[in-house]
Amino acid sequence: MISVVKLAPSILSADFARLGEQVREAEAAGADYIHIDVMDGRFVPVISLGTPIVEAVRRVTGLPLDIHLMIEAPERHIGAFMDAGGDIINVHVEAARHLHHIAREVRGKGKLAGACINPGTPVSALESLLPELDQVIVMSVNPGWSGQKFIEGTLPRVRRLREMIDGAGLATEIEVDGGVTVQNASVCAAAGANVLVAASAVFNDSASVAENMAQLKEALAAGEG
Ligand code: DX5
Ligand code: ZN
Repeated sequence: MISVVKLAPSILSADFARLGEQVREAEAAGADYIHIDVMDGRFVPVISLGTPIVEAVRRVTGLPLDIHLMIEAPERHIGAFMDAGGDIINVHVEAARHLHHIAREVRGKGKLAGACINPGTPVSALESLLPELDQVIVMSVNPGWSGQKFIEGTLPRVRRLREMIDGAGLATEIEVDGGVTVQNASVCAAAGANVLVAASAVFNDSASVAENMAQLKEALAAGEG
């Protein structure tokens, strides 16, 4: 059975010395998006990836690029990430003062608008914004690093958000990001997630990208069965 839940491998755990190859492996294994984690050393303590990496990934895949901006003042940079080839532009509600405006600018350029919420931010903060959004990223770890443990309290948050979206008759997708593994993928989907991000569960030394992706897909299909 083919799962309806999309998988968005995050290159944060990829081998950057052979990034193109790793992205192609993920695409061949059935990735739906490539998730790119952008960190500025201010909104989160770490500095990670910028527009040159987005441009490089854009050259090797036709998959939608899901840009997760963990940065202060995201309105200053969304244009650059769209120009670099980003397709889904996700900004944090904790960092963006004028999120309606940003979402309209992103949609105005023909891209998809996303908003992200940290584990400590109530999902109700998004309620009035949902009609402006194509996607919500519910963080299931505190942003900043791959390889952290999934916060179980995420599941009721996803359920609540799913009720809000369905209740309003919207098509906004719910993406869960952080600590997603073969063990918890299907419970995230059952709670109402449409998209799962996975970095360390896809790019690791234990198995190939193809094997890891296949295991995630099997876990999702088993959960749907
Ligand atoms: C966390 C990032 C995540 C991260 C996920 O700050 O937003 O996308 O790469 O890594 P894993 O899947 O290893 O928790
Ligand atoms: Zn992310």
